[in-house]
Amino acid sequence: MGGDPALCSSVVSVLLILLCAGLSLHANARPSIKITSTVVDQICSKSINSSFCLNVLNSDPRTRTVDLKQLAQITINYAQTNVSSNQKLIQSLSSHATDPKLKERYDDCADHYDEATGNIEYALERLNSGDFPGTNIAVSAVFTDVDDCEEEWKTPPADPSQLSTKNKDLKDLLDISLVISNLL
Ligand SMILES: *[C@@H]1O[C@H](CO)[C@@H](O)[C@H](O)[C@H]1NC(C)=O
Ligand SMILES: *[C@@H]1O[C@H](CO)[C@@H](O)[C@H](O)[C@H]1NC(C)=O
Repeated sequence: MGGDPALCSSVVSVLLILLCAGLSLHANARPSIKITSTVVDQICSKSINSSFCLNVLNSDPRTRTVDLKQLAQITINYAQTNVSSNQKLIQSLSSHATDPKLKERYDDCADHYDEATGNIEYALERLNSGDFPGTNIAVSAVFTDVDDCEEEWKTPPADPSQLSTKNKDLKDLLDISLVISNLL
């Protein structure tokens, strides 16, 4: 007891201002971090398939010329390409399926992929607005959509196509985007 309440509250205010200044400096600095091999290693060591991650990031010549925000954009664009090619594969599988049970599951996957298409567009829009938590949430939603497609195949009949492998590659790509958007 016995402290000066006015002094105390001004000390708290100064601390809050310092804390907030520190946080905003942090938030402004991160997206413009240049990508070096150390940064690539840091990103990939956090991803679920680090050899896949190293391969994807190191095989793109743009990686060493961009910053963290631009790298997020590049990896989300990759995922977007994968979403659209997987969606085409699913539509083709559905139109050729003779087993009605398989056809029904491909059609359900097509619905999940429609959601994924919208969510990945939204992720890019959030990224361009500088809303990094929103980017992360939207990319997570795409991940869930792909998982929902995988869930369709929990019981027989098994999927005779390459879809499961493609879903897995897409999830590995989305995971890289998640790691990067978490760092932003
Ligand atoms: C990592 O990705 C590569 C390339 O897609 C794949 O061959 C490998 O099986 C994956 N590893 C794991 C642990 O998922
Ligand atoms: C998905 O993305 C990966 C990594 O960029 C690429 O190697 C692969 O060819 C893509 N697959 C499709 C079907 O677009």
